[in-house]
Amino acid sequence: MEYTVKSGDPSTQRTACLILGVFSRRQLTPLAQQVDKASKGHLSRLLKRGDMDGNSGQQLMIYEVPGVTAERILLVGLGKARELNMKQYAGAIAGAIKVLNESHPVEAICGLCEVDMDDKSLYQIIRETVLQAEDTLYQYTETKSEKKKSQRSLKRLGIFIHDRRQLKAARKALTHAEAIANGISLTKDLSNLPGNICTPSYLADQARKLGRGNEKLRVQILEEKQMEKLGMGALLSVSRGSRQPAKLIIMEYKGGKPGAKPVVLVGKGLTFDAGGISIKPSAAMDEMKYDMCGGASVFGTMQACMEMALPINLIGIVPSSENLPDGDANKPGDIVTSMSGQTIEILNTDAEGRLILCDALTYSERFEPAAVIDIATLTGACIVALGNQASGLMANNGNLATEVLAAGDHAGDRAWQLPLWDEYQEQLKSNFADMANIGGKGAGTITAACFLFRYTKKFKWAHLDIAGTAWRSGANKGATGRPVPLLSQFLLKRCGYSD
Ligand code: BES
Ligand code: MN
Ligand code: ZN
Repeated sequence: MEYTVKSGDPSTQRTACLILGVFSRRQLTPLAQQVDKASKGHLSRLLKRGDMDGNSGQQLMIYEVPGVTAERILLVGLGKARELNMKQYAGAIAGAIKVLNESHPVEAICGLCEVDMDDKSLYQIIRETVLQAEDTLYQYTETKSEKKKSQRSLKRLGIFIHDRRQLKAARKALTHAEAIANGISLTKDLSNLPGNICTPSYLADQARKLGRGNEKLRVQILEEKQMEKLGMGALLSVSRGSRQPAKLIIMEYKGGKPGAKPVVLVGKGLTFDAGGISIKPSAAMDEMKYDMCGGASVFGTMQACMEMALPINLIGIVPSSENLPDGDANKPGDIVTSMSGQTIEILNTDAEGRLILCDALTYSERFEPAAVIDIATLTGACIVALGNQASGLMANNGNLATEVLAAGDHAGDRAWQLPLWDEYQEQLKSNFADMANIGGKGAGTITAACFLFRYTKKFKWAHLDIAGTAWRSGANKGATGRPVPLLSQFLLKRCGYSD
């Protein structure tokens, strides 16, 4: 969709639909009051009839409002004025966009963005408005025979700003939001693709494609031969069970000062996880095509960062492989040597994510990173701990942890920290190697991070376990694009955007 900033008199806007807010007990927002005045009280008279009282979730489309140029007005319930928060606001936007997209208007003006919300800036509200709209309009069509996205959809949305002094902030919000939304959409598209299409080679091609569009992006793909030379025995052991060759995808965006230390994002790109010889039960196994969502979020964040032309050096690393049972696959008890030299006893071949990530983390040392964040659908235990609301966060540095948590809060894409105490390391003891790849009963999310921790001694590191947040199951099955909003906000903040 196309977004613009609109300003002036709300009642004389030439538009197919003006979206206005109503709080509980029929209380019009200041902007809606202004339109009400222009219509000589038409809106408040209608509300008095009782069709809508302003509770959240309510909507009322009204036509031919006297004294108003807009062809129609969509009244949207926002709930109690004092209790309005971003979650409710987002719901109201999603509802409005859905209704408009399913009806006639190809264009509308949103008059909700100037609502009062505790500690939320106009910039933030506009950004959320666009992200919500794009999330609502997202359609996956790649593998449907009817590839054309459904016709009569909403094409343009104006964001109404009453206070012209905020014009600059509003425009900035739109630019940022559109870039982030495009990143999210790329992440969803890649994630939703099935494992027979989205293979490690496919992801490598997508990275090359991303590089073709931008001279500031250098893309390099390491093949298995090169990984062998580097000694990536852990990563390669996983792909031995697959006919698809593994790829190590490296994307270097140079937007910052030459020589400035980069932020490195490492995303798990397991394009299908059957568990290997420790095979998974078959129920919902199809969802293991989503085991590359971490990698996909690196692609999406990279894209958003490039589109915003952020003045930062950013490196994306995506180790990509399948995890399948095969005569040559890892067997429980096998011992492999990682690139770091540390040996690993593979007690469960389904704990493969950490095996491909540990070598990618060691590889990232060469960039002398300012910080490394890895993103992975790493443990089912994370869903047990946090459900589908928060990503799990673990880190070897308190300041970095705080920074990531704050970015998540700001972006409404939250993470929650779990401890990485030394005591948990004991669970990874092996009689035959430097460590086992599983930590036994209890704290599965933490022991997985403890494993990665052993490969992050040379830099500040944070780990996001997105097993519960990267996709939705059930009737609405689909990728969410998380944590692209968190990561984008993290980068924006690092670039000095404080809004
Ligand atoms: N990709 C899975 C984790 C996962 C499972 C994410 C279900 C989302 C939903 C990972 O590779 C895995 O299989 N982890 C094992 C680890 C265990 C063997 C220690 C798990 O969580 O069961
Ligand atoms: Mn697994
Ligand atoms: Zn996995």
